[in-house]
Amino acid sequence: MVQDYYLTEKEFIKLREIVYNEAGIKLGDAKRVLMQSRLVKRLRQLKLGSFGEYHDYLLNNYSDEKDNFINLITTNKTDFFRENDHFEFMKNVILPHIEKSGQDEIRIWSAGCSTGEEPYTIAIVLNEFFENKKKPVCKILATDIDTNVLQHGINGVYSIEQVKKVDKAIVAKYFLKGEGDNDGFFKVKEELKKNVFFRRLNLLGDSFPMRKQFDLIFCRNVIIYFDKDCQRKLFKNFYPYLKDEGYLMVGHSENISTVTDRFVLNGRTIYRKVR
Ligand SMILES: C[S@@+](CC[C@H](N)C(=O)[O-])C[C@H]1O[C@@H](n2cnc3c(N)ncnc32)[C@H](O)[C@@H]1O
Repeated sequence: MVQDYYLTEKEFIKLREIVYNEAGIKLGDAKRVLMQSRLVKRLRQLKLGSFGEYHDYLLNNYSDEKDNFINLITTNKTDFFRENDHFEFMKNVILPHIEKSGQDEIRIWSAGCSTGEEPYTIAIVLNEFFENKKKPVCKILATDIDTNVLQHGINGVYSIEQVKKVDKAIVAKYFLKGEGDNDGFFKVKEELKKNVFFRRLNLLGDSFPMRKQFDLIFCRNVIIYFDKDCQRKLFKNFYPYLKDEGYLMVGHSENISTVTDRFVLNGRTIYRKVR
Protein backbone atom coordinates (compact mmCIF):
# COMPACT_ATOMS: atom_id res chain seq x y z
CA MET A 1 0.00 0.00 0.00
CA VAL A 2 1.29 3.50 -0.85
CA GLN A 3 1.55 5.59 2.28
CA ASP A 4 0.01 9.08 2.34
CA TYR A 5 2.13 11.80 3.86
CA TYR A 6 0.84 15.02 5.37
CA LEU A 7 3.12 17.96 6.17
CA THR A 8 1.73 19.61 9.29
CA GLU A 9 1.91 23.36 9.86
CA LYS A 10 4.45 22.83 12.64
CA GLU A 11 6.73 20.64 10.50
CA PHE A 12 6.43 23.08 7.60
CA ILE A 13 7.53 25.98 9.79
CA LYS A 14 10.59 24.05 11.00
CA LEU A 15 11.60 22.93 7.50
CA ARG A 16 11.05 26.33 5.88
CA GLU A 17 13.26 27.94 8.49
CA ILE A 18 16.09 25.64 7.36
CA VAL A 19 15.45 26.61 3.72
CA TYR A 20 15.57 30.29 4.64
CA ASN A 21 18.77 29.96 6.66
CA GLU A 22 20.51 27.92 3.95
CA ALA A 23 19.34 29.56 0.73
CA GLY A 24 17.50 32.75 1.66
CA ILE A 25 14.39 31.36 -0.02
CA LYS A 26 11.31 32.65 1.77
CA LEU A 27 8.39 30.23 1.66
CA GLY A 28 5.07 31.86 2.54
CA ASP A 29 2.28 29.96 4.31
CA ALA A 30 0.70 29.12 0.93
CA LYS A 31 3.77 27.06 -0.03
CA ARG A 32 3.08 24.23 2.47
CA VAL A 33 1.47 21.95 -0.11
CA LEU A 34 4.24 22.69 -2.59
CA MET A 35 6.88 21.66 -0.07
CA GLN A 36 4.90 18.55 0.78
CA SER A 37 4.71 17.46 -2.87
CA ARG A 38 8.40 18.18 -3.52
CA LEU A 39 9.58 16.12 -0.54
CA VAL A 40 7.23 13.11 -0.59
CA LYS A 41 9.39 11.09 -3.00
CA ARG A 42 12.44 11.63 -0.81
CA LEU A 43 10.56 10.39 2.29
CA ARG A 44 9.60 7.26 0.36
CA GLN A 45 13.19 6.71 -0.81
CA LEU A 46 14.38 6.98 2.77
CA LYS A 47 11.47 4.81 4.00
CA LEU A 48 10.48 7.41 6.58
CA GLY A 49 7.03 7.48 8.12
CA SER A 50 6.37 11.22 8.42
CA PHE A 51 7.75 14.70 7.76
CA GLY A 52 8.62 14.88 11.45
CA GLU A 53 10.91 11.89 10.92
CA TYR A 54 12.35 13.57 7.84
CA HIS A 55 13.09 16.71 9.85
CA ASP A 56 14.98 14.63 12.43
CA TYR A 57 16.78 12.70 9.67
CA LEU A 58 17.83 15.98 8.04
CA LEU A 59 19.22 17.38 11.28
CA ASN A 60 21.03 14.14 12.15
CA ASN A 61 22.58 13.78 8.66
CA TYR A 62 22.86 17.43 7.85
CA SER A 63 26.03 17.48 5.76
CA ASP A 64 24.84 14.54 3.62
CA GLU A 65 21.16 15.44 3.28
CA LYS A 66 21.24 19.23 3.11
CA ASP A 67 21.95 19.38 -0.66
CA ASN A 68 19.19 16.89 -1.49
CA PHE A 69 16.78 18.92 0.59
CA ILE A 70 17.68 22.27 -0.98
CA ASN A 71 17.75 20.75 -4.50
CA LEU A 72 14.16 19.58 -4.03
CA ILE A 73 12.97 22.95 -2.81
CA THR A 74 14.48 25.28 -5.42
CA THR A 75 12.38 26.32 -8.41
CA ASN A 76 14.44 25.94 -11.57
CA LYS A 77 12.18 27.06 -14.39
CA THR A 78 14.24 28.52 -17.24
CA ASP A 79 14.50 28.66 -21.03
CA PHE A 80 16.87 29.47 -23.87
CA PHE A 81 16.53 33.15 -24.84
CA ARG A 82 14.16 33.76 -21.92
CA GLU A 83 13.20 37.46 -21.63
CA ASN A 84 14.94 37.97 -24.94
CA ASP A 85 15.08 41.77 -24.84
CA HIS A 86 18.01 41.38 -22.40
CA PHE A 87 19.96 39.47 -25.05
CA GLU A 88 18.98 42.04 -27.69
CA PHE A 89 20.29 44.77 -25.39
CA MET A 90 23.49 42.82 -24.90
CA LYS A 91 23.91 42.45 -28.67
CA ASN A 92 22.93 46.02 -29.60
CA VAL A 93 24.32 48.10 -26.74
CA ILE A 94 26.73 46.27 -24.44
CA LEU A 95 28.80 44.27 -26.90
CA PRO A 96 29.35 47.10 -29.43
CA HIS A 97 30.54 49.26 -26.53
CA ILE A 98 32.93 46.55 -25.34
CA GLU A 99 34.14 45.96 -28.89
CA LYS A 100 34.91 49.67 -29.27
CA SER A 101 36.82 49.72 -25.99
CA GLY A 102 39.20 47.09 -27.41
CA GLN A 103 39.28 45.11 -24.16
CA ASP A 104 40.68 41.64 -24.65
CA GLU A 105 38.49 39.75 -22.17
CA ILE A 106 34.76 39.76 -21.44
CA ARG A 107 33.49 38.34 -18.18
CA ILE A 108 29.80 37.61 -17.65
CA TRP A 109 28.16 35.98 -14.62
CA SER A 110 24.92 34.05 -14.80
CA ALA A 111 23.98 34.01 -11.11
CA GLY A 112 21.23 31.46 -10.45
CA CYS A 113 21.86 29.76 -13.80
CA SER A 114 19.61 26.73 -13.22
CA THR A 115 20.08 24.00 -15.88
CA GLY A 116 22.29 26.14 -18.13
CA GLU A 117 19.95 27.60 -20.75
CA GLU A 118 20.78 31.16 -19.64
CA PRO A 119 24.60 30.88 -19.74
CA TYR A 120 24.50 28.95 -23.03
CA THR A 121 22.26 31.65 -24.51
CA ILE A 122 24.84 34.22 -23.41
CA ALA A 123 27.56 32.13 -25.08
CA ILE A 124 25.54 31.98 -28.31
CA VAL A 125 24.97 35.75 -28.33
CA LEU A 126 28.70 36.36 -27.79
CA ASN A 127 29.64 33.93 -30.54
CA GLU A 128 27.20 35.41 -33.01
CA PHE A 129 28.28 38.96 -32.26
CA PHE A 130 32.00 38.31 -32.59
CA GLU A 131 31.76 36.05 -35.63
CA ASN A 132 34.25 37.31 -38.23
CA LYS A 133 35.51 39.94 -35.77
CA LYS A 134 38.46 40.03 -33.43
CA LYS A 135 37.01 38.04 -30.57
CA PRO A 136 38.06 38.79 -26.99
CA VAL A 137 38.46 35.91 -24.54
CA CYS A 138 34.91 35.22 -23.33
CA LYS A 139 34.37 33.80 -19.86
CA ILE A 140 30.92 32.99 -18.57
CA LEU A 141 30.61 31.99 -14.95
CA ALA A 142 27.39 30.03 -14.29
CA THR A 143 26.51 29.49 -10.63
CA ASP A 144 23.65 27.99 -8.70
CA ILE A 145 23.02 26.58 -5.23
CA ASP A 146 21.34 23.46 -6.66
CA THR A 147 23.85 20.72 -7.48
CA ASN A 148 21.41 18.79 -9.72
CA VAL A 149 20.78 21.66 -12.10
CA LEU A 150 24.52 22.39 -12.28
CA GLN A 151 25.17 18.82 -13.40
CA HIS A 152 22.51 19.25 -16.09
CA GLY A 153 24.27 22.39 -17.27
CA ILE A 154 27.66 20.68 -17.30
CA ASN A 155 26.23 17.80 -19.37
CA GLY A 156 24.66 20.34 -21.72
CA VAL A 157 22.02 17.93 -23.04
CA TYR A 158 18.52 19.27 -23.72
CA SER A 159 15.32 17.69 -24.97
CA ILE A 160 13.63 18.65 -28.22
CA GLU A 161 11.00 20.43 -26.08
CA GLN A 162 13.69 22.60 -24.48
CA VAL A 163 15.19 23.73 -27.80
CA LYS A 164 12.00 23.97 -29.82
CA LYS A 165 11.65 27.74 -29.48
CA VAL A 166 15.25 28.37 -30.49
CA ASP A 167 15.86 29.44 -34.09
CA LYS A 168 16.52 26.30 -36.16
CA ALA A 169 19.71 27.69 -37.70
CA ILE A 170 21.09 28.41 -34.21
CA VAL A 171 20.23 24.88 -33.05
CA ALA A 172 21.97 23.41 -36.10
CA LYS A 173 25.02 25.60 -35.53
CA TYR A 174 25.52 25.13 -31.79
CA PHE A 175 23.98 21.74 -30.90
CA LEU A 176 24.70 18.15 -31.90
CA LYS A 177 21.54 16.22 -32.68
CA GLY A 178 21.33 12.93 -30.79
CA GLU A 179 20.96 9.68 -32.68
CA GLY A 180 19.84 6.18 -31.68
CA ASP A 181 19.28 6.12 -27.92
CA ASN A 182 19.83 9.89 -27.87
CA ASP A 183 17.18 10.62 -30.47
CA GLY A 184 15.12 13.65 -29.36
CA PHE A 185 18.06 15.20 -27.47
CA PHE A 186 20.48 17.95 -28.38
CA LYS A 187 23.96 18.41 -26.95
CA VAL A 188 25.66 21.79 -26.74
CA LYS A 189 28.80 21.83 -28.89
CA GLU A 190 32.22 22.07 -27.28
CA GLU A 191 32.74 25.44 -28.95
CA LEU A 192 30.14 26.95 -26.56
CA LYS A 193 30.83 24.72 -23.59
CA LYS A 194 34.46 25.72 -23.37
CA ASN A 195 33.52 29.28 -22.41
CA VAL A 196 31.01 28.38 -19.69
CA PHE A 197 32.23 27.49 -16.19
CA PHE A 198 29.64 25.95 -13.87
CA ARG A 199 30.23 26.33 -10.13
CA ARG A 200 28.19 25.83 -7.00
CA LEU A 201 27.68 29.09 -5.17
CA ASN A 202 25.18 30.26 -2.58
CA LEU A 203 24.36 33.85 -3.50
CA LEU A 204 23.63 34.60 0.14
CA GLY A 205 26.96 33.37 1.43
CA ASP A 206 29.04 35.97 3.25
CA SER A 207 31.50 36.45 0.41
CA PHE A 208 32.16 35.32 -3.15
CA PRO A 209 35.42 33.60 -4.12
CA MET A 210 35.89 35.26 -7.54
CA ARG A 211 38.87 37.54 -7.93
CA LYS A 212 38.00 39.58 -11.00
CA GLN A 213 35.08 41.88 -11.79
CA PHE A 214 32.40 41.25 -14.40
CA ASP A 215 31.20 43.35 -17.33
CA LEU A 216 27.70 42.04 -16.90
CA ILE A 217 25.77 40.10 -14.26
CA PHE A 218 22.56 38.25 -15.03
CA CYS A 219 20.58 37.49 -11.87
CA ARG A 220 17.15 36.84 -13.26
CA ASN A 221 14.15 35.22 -11.62
CA VAL A 222 16.13 34.47 -8.47
CA ILE A 223 15.35 37.33 -6.09
CA ILE A 224 11.59 36.78 -6.32
CA TYR A 225 12.22 33.96 -3.85
CA PHE A 226 14.15 36.20 -1.42
CA ASP A 227 12.83 38.63 1.17
CA LYS A 228 13.97 42.26 1.23
CA ASP A 229 16.80 41.63 3.72
CA CYS A 230 18.31 38.93 1.53
CA GLN A 231 17.85 41.04 -1.59
CA ARG A 232 19.62 43.96 0.12
CA LYS A 233 22.52 41.70 1.11
CA LEU A 234 22.80 40.25 -2.40
CA PHE A 235 23.03 43.59 -4.20
CA LYS A 236 25.53 44.86 -1.67
CA ASN A 237 27.59 41.73 -2.41
CA PHE A 238 27.22 42.12 -6.19
CA TYR A 239 28.38 45.74 -6.19
CA PRO A 240 32.16 45.21 -5.96
CA TYR A 241 31.96 42.37 -8.51
CA LEU A 242 30.64 44.57 -11.28
CA LYS A 243 32.96 46.87 -13.23
CA ASP A 244 32.22 50.59 -13.04
CA GLU A 245 29.21 51.24 -15.27
CA GLY A 246 28.80 47.49 -15.75
CA TYR A 247 25.31 46.12 -16.31
CA LEU A 248 23.04 44.05 -14.10
CA MET A 249 19.95 42.28 -15.44
CA VAL A 250 17.17 41.03 -13.19
CA GLY A 251 13.98 39.19 -14.16
CA HIS A 252 11.10 41.02 -15.82
CA SER A 253 8.95 40.70 -12.71
CA GLU A 254 11.71 41.89 -10.38
CA ASN A 255 12.45 45.40 -9.14
CA ILE A 256 15.51 46.30 -7.11
CA SER A 257 14.92 50.00 -6.54
CA THR A 258 13.49 49.52 -3.03
CA VAL A 259 16.55 47.60 -1.80
CA THR A 260 19.49 49.39 -3.41
CA ASP A 261 20.35 52.77 -4.91
CA ARG A 262 23.73 51.66 -6.25
CA PHE A 263 22.34 50.58 -9.63
CA VAL A 264 20.27 52.85 -11.90
CA LEU A 265 17.60 51.69 -14.28
CA ASN A 266 18.76 51.63 -17.90
CA GLY A 267 16.06 49.67 -19.70
CA ARG A 268 13.45 47.09 -18.82
CA THR A 269 14.87 45.50 -15.64
CA ILE A 270 18.35 46.41 -16.89
CA TYR A 271 20.47 48.29 -14.34
CA ARG A 272 23.83 50.00 -14.46
CA LYS A 273 26.30 50.30 -11.63
CA VAL A 274 26.61 53.80 -10.18
CA ARG A 275 30.13 54.75 -9.14
C1 LIG B 1 13.82 30.21 -11.59
S1 LIG B 1 15.52 29.81 -11.74
C2 LIG B 1 16.06 31.11 -12.84
C3 LIG B 1 17.03 30.61 -13.90
C4 LIG B 1 17.52 31.67 -14.89
N1 LIG B 1 18.24 32.72 -14.20
C5 LIG B 1 16.37 32.24 -15.67
O1 LIG B 1 15.96 33.39 -15.43
O2 LIG B 1 15.85 31.55 -16.56
C6 LIG B 1 16.16 30.35 -10.17
C7 LIG B 1 17.47 29.66 -9.78
O3 LIG B 1 18.02 30.32 -8.64
C8 LIG B 1 18.66 29.33 -7.83
N2 LIG B 1 18.81 29.83 -6.45
C9 LIG B 1 17.84 30.03 -5.50
N3 LIG B 1 18.38 30.45 -4.35
C10 LIG B 1 19.72 30.55 -4.56
C11 LIG B 1 20.82 30.94 -3.75
N4 LIG B 1 20.65 31.32 -2.47
N5 LIG B 1 22.06 30.91 -4.29
C12 LIG B 1 22.23 30.53 -5.57
N6 LIG B 1 21.25 30.14 -6.40
C13 LIG B 1 19.99 30.16 -5.89
C14 LIG B 1 17.72 28.13 -7.93
O4 LIG B 1 18.39 26.93 -7.61
C15 LIG B 1 17.28 28.19 -9.38
O5 LIG B 1 18.02 27.34 -10.21
